[in-house]
Amino acid sequence: MSKPTPPAAVDALTELEAAAELARLAAEIAEHDRRYHDEDAPTISDADYDALRRRNEAIEARFPGLKRADSPSERVGAPIAARFDKIQHVVPMLSLDNAFAEADAVEFVARVHRFLGLLPGSVTFTAEPKIDGLSMNLRYVEGRLTSAATRGDGTTGENVTNNVLTIKEIPRQLPPGAPGVIDIRGEVYMTKADFKALNERQQAAGEKIFANPRNAAAGSLRQLDSRVTASRALSFFAYAWGEASELPADTQFGMVEAFRGWNFVTNPLMVRCADAEALIAHYRLIEAMRANLPYDIDGVVYKVDQLELQTRLGFISRSPRWAIAHKFPAEQATTTLEAIDIQVGRTGALTPVARLKSVTVGGVVVTNATLHNADEIRRLDARVGDTVTVQRAGDVIPQIVEVKKDEAHDTREAFVFPHVCPCELKTPVNREATATGGEGVISRCSGEFACPYQRIEHLKHFVSRRAFDIEGLGEKQIEFFFNDTDLPIREPGDIFTLGQRDAANLKKLKDKEGFGATSVKKLYTAIDERRTIALDRFIYALGIRNVGETTARQLARAYGSWKAFHQAALAVAAIDIAARNEMDAIDQIGETVIDSIAAYFAESHNLVIVERLVAEMTGGIAEAEKPKTDTVVAGKTIVFTGSLEKLTRDEAKAQAERLGAKVSGSVSAKTNLVVAGPGAGSKLTKAQELGIEVIDEDAWIALAGG
Ligand code: IVH
Repeated sequence: MSKPTPPAAVDALTELEAAAELARLAAEIAEHDRRYHDEDAPTISDADYDALRRRNEAIEARFPGLKRADSPSERVGAPIAARFDKIQHVVPMLSLDNAFAEADAVEFVARVHRFLGLLPGSVTFTAEPKIDGLSMNLRYVEGRLTSAATRGDGTTGENVTNNVLTIKEIPRQLPPGAPGVIDIRGEVYMTKADFKALNERQQAAGEKIFANPRNAAAGSLRQLDSRVTASRALSFFAYAWGEASELPADTQFGMVEAFRGWNFVTNPLMVRCADAEALIAHYRLIEAMRANLPYDIDGVVYKVDQLELQTRLGFISRSPRWAIAHKFPAEQATTTLEAIDIQVGRTGALTPVARLKSVTVGGVVVTNATLHNADEIRRLDARVGDTVTVQRAGDVIPQIVEVKKDEAHDTREAFVFPHVCPCELKTPVNREATATGGEGVISRCSGEFACPYQRIEHLKHFVSRRAFDIEGLGEKQIEFFFNDTDLPIREPGDIFTLGQRDAANLKKLKDKEGFGATSVKKLYTAIDERRTIALDRFIYALGIRNVGETTARQLARAYGSWKAFHQAALAVAAIDIAARNEMDAIDQIGETVIDSIAAYFAESHNLVIVERLVAEMTGGIAEAEKPKTDTVVAGKTIVFTGSLEKLTRDEAKAQAERLGAKVSGSVSAKTNLVVAGPGAGSKLTKAQELGIEVIDEDAWIALAGG
């Protein structure tokens, strides 16, 4: 896969650069995790994401002392969303090892025989599509579906029973003769057709568009309101099991047949195979069918058929020795580059977008691809008119991986990256510096709020679900109002004057296309409801660079009121050292965030915009809950180390902070309490040396109030 600019080799990093790079990677990976898990809207491919994690690990391996408390390498899989109850899996839900080449499949078959000490040809296998959805554990007790849980981190998942009960393909009751207790496992997914229909409905309603069927399925399942799940078409294939009081068969194939007998839907493309050759032949067949299958798949899973042999083979760390996923290569196609456009995002970053002659890549019609940045265009030497190879890796935005340098290539004009923003202001574009002062890859328009592209993106962010979340005012409507001459919305405050302006305008909005008396009334009600808002949402909605939801929450919690935060932000912008130090002392707030806040509040446009918006918040900006001062841990510094089994790290940390404690990543003389789980190492030793109080997770839970 092509990468924008190859980052500096790990070997060449100085310690200082490595520390900065680890900080950047921790933030970047956390942001991608959030987009993927919380928003179900990833913005990078799995391969690029893996590359970030690998780089983080390589740097940590070279500088073990620099490993951060919030290191991504400490986190595996999906963090458990706090809003669902947790369910501990009786039998852990594992993952699969991957094979990328046919030789890996041959080696898998050989390895299985070697491990068992059996002659080649004595083991039977199964091959079936790897469904691109979410794995689910369905627990049946006395034949009744009693709970449904997501995979989560493999040990603990989310309780999504109410939502799963709305999926028609999942039986609520098993026929007589089924085991007394059985966990049925399989994949919840959305068909390509249902995905397309859902996105069309979302678009029409101005709601979020899902990146792919997998994310749509995840987003639909992880709804607190099961009526929403019920309105989304979800499907289910059963292919595995967890705890079972008895097994209806002694082979993988027989088990799946039994599931079918219990009215589960099972995949028709599962076959038995005698050897690697047969497995690979089935892989090729499924690959050829892939584009025409009604659902997304990303490979073929091979499993040992005999259950007795599966038991003997066992597991290595988190994957079974008896199964492997043979993944499909990224899908590619060749087409013509028709134009290179520049898009300007909310933060002013200029992204070159390739406009392509439409082409089908792995069953999806592609007309646009990202070219990442100026360096990438230069590296590819992409010129309008060139023949290019586009790649769609799994899901996200397609990219150009290669330019075919034919004879005409040299006669075409090389692309010149603009030095001014394509907006009407033609403000200069600056190449951003990296954390270490080098030249970065991002080119940004310096126009900030004055740049119409950034304004419109700011407004979209402002009304987004996690910010003001105004019903009936989505991206589509923002675009409409932004360009409307009767009732323009050019800044957040304008949203709240819309009603008055419409009245003065003799209520024309209801007559405009896409509106009507009822929807206009509803819109104004929804807007008025947002004249009161929580402080953290308000801060997040301002769209300050580097101030995401978590940071906004930290700030809200630390300052407690808009007035206090506003004063601090203005002071920081005026280079008040005391205010800066105070902000720096807030957990998780560092130089980058403070610089961004300072820059935002030093900009006169922004100040006016914020002032006008605040004036519209007639219901008040709800004060945030201040950290407690009357608890046993208030003002204390706590370190969590080792693995926690009942709480996630994030939860434990949030609990501690709510109780007024500060959470630190390293043990020092300033530490007051260490909560150590199994596997705790040097931090525990150090705490003992320093005579710091050490408690286990249960004691912490008791201390934190259960
Ligand atoms: S078997 C011990 N079969 O792939 C592992 N998994 O990478 C049991 N998946 O979490 C899983 N299709 O969500 C199995 N036909 C299939 C599958 C499948 C998709 C997913 C599943 C699992 C992931 C592992």
